Amino acid sequence: MENAINWSELSFGYMKTDYNVRCYYRNGQWGELEVSSSEIINIHMSATCLHYGQEAFEGLKAFRGKDGKIRVFRMDENAKRLQSSARGIMMAGFPLAKFEEAVSKAIRLNERFIPPYGSGASLYIRPLLIGLGALIGVKPSDEYLFLVFVTPVGPYFKTGFKPAPVCIMRAYDRAAPQGTGTYKVGGNYAASLAAGNKAHEKGYVAVLYLDPKEKLYLDECGPANFFAIRDNTYITPASNSILPSITNMSLTQLAAAMGLKVERRPIPVSELATFEETAECGTAAVITPISQIDDLDENRSYVYSEDGKPGPICEKLYHKLFAIQTGDAPDPYGWVKIIE
Ligand code: PLP
Ligand code: COI
Repeated sequence: MENAINWSELSFGYMKTDYNVRCYYRNGQWGELEVSSSEIINIHMSATCLHYGQEAFEGLKAFRGKDGKIRVFRMDENAKRLQSSARGIMMAGFPLAKFEEAVSKAIRLNERFIPPYGSGASLYIRPLLIGLGALIGVKPSDEYLFLVFVTPVGPYFKTGFKPAPVCIMRAYDRAAPQGTGTYKVGGNYAASLAAGNKAHEKGYVAVLYLDPKEKLYLDECGPANFFAIRDNTYITPASNSILPSITNMSLTQLAAAMGLKVERRPIPVSELATFEETAECGTAAVITPISQIDDLDENRSYVYSEDGKPGPICEKLYHKLFAIQTGDAPDPYGWVKIIE
């Protein structure tokens, strides 16, 4: 490598790697996987992804274990979710087996960018699906590109596994009540930029959105789901406007296996005062404990960590999840796939 990478100093950013894997949908069918070393895609100026937001993406991670093996976490679930997003905005679904093949290929081809065991960094994998058809009317495209690239990353939030503050601002929504919140489509992230920027200016790492219909229940954060711990119970929102997080789904299983009760239900804002621990969770965020939630409209603060340390249940869940991802702990759920 031209310049040695300082793995433990990596932030969550883009770094050029050697190859990406592409596949085109034309004439009603997906073609063969193609390997490219270009970071550029050449698309028509009238492509539906540019005008009408026909774009969906995924995010997953691969880890190097102590045994030197490469493990990728739950890529079958990401494959399924990309199909769900594709259905949600009328794109051609990318076949599940082909998704796994493309992701595995992108990892293998960029093996030298997989951070070493113990560095705290991982290989972030970003598949995307975009409409390429040159249309000007608002219609679904008949041509698509699936592409997967990888980049080594460190923690999403600068604080890493240290509690960080988030805020509630009722003036913003990231998704509509019956809209695209359950899909991983670019438009949701565009919709979250202004609120996110305002929150960052005020010193918060993220916005905790409320349900967009009534603003009575907790939804999720801009880039991650939300969960809380109280009375040995893992509590996470049920909502029509949040992304079904694969990390959250995994944590509910780990929590249950640790003897916690699990509740997935609407969570009224008023319950914030009763929680012992709260956190954001996601592929990029992993578990990011929340130090305090400031409700900027009601002028109230809910504090969960005063000493800068994660709560005990968040700590246990974090270590358990990470141990399975890296191969330090057995994987009784079949979540991890070894890339040969
Ligand atoms: N919610 C949103 C809005 C996200 O962008 C993400 C990230 O993918 C998540 C939740 C977490 O989902 P996952 O755990 O599948 O990464
Ligand atoms: C992920 O966690 O993989 C995400 O896609 C979140 C993101 C917006 C960085």
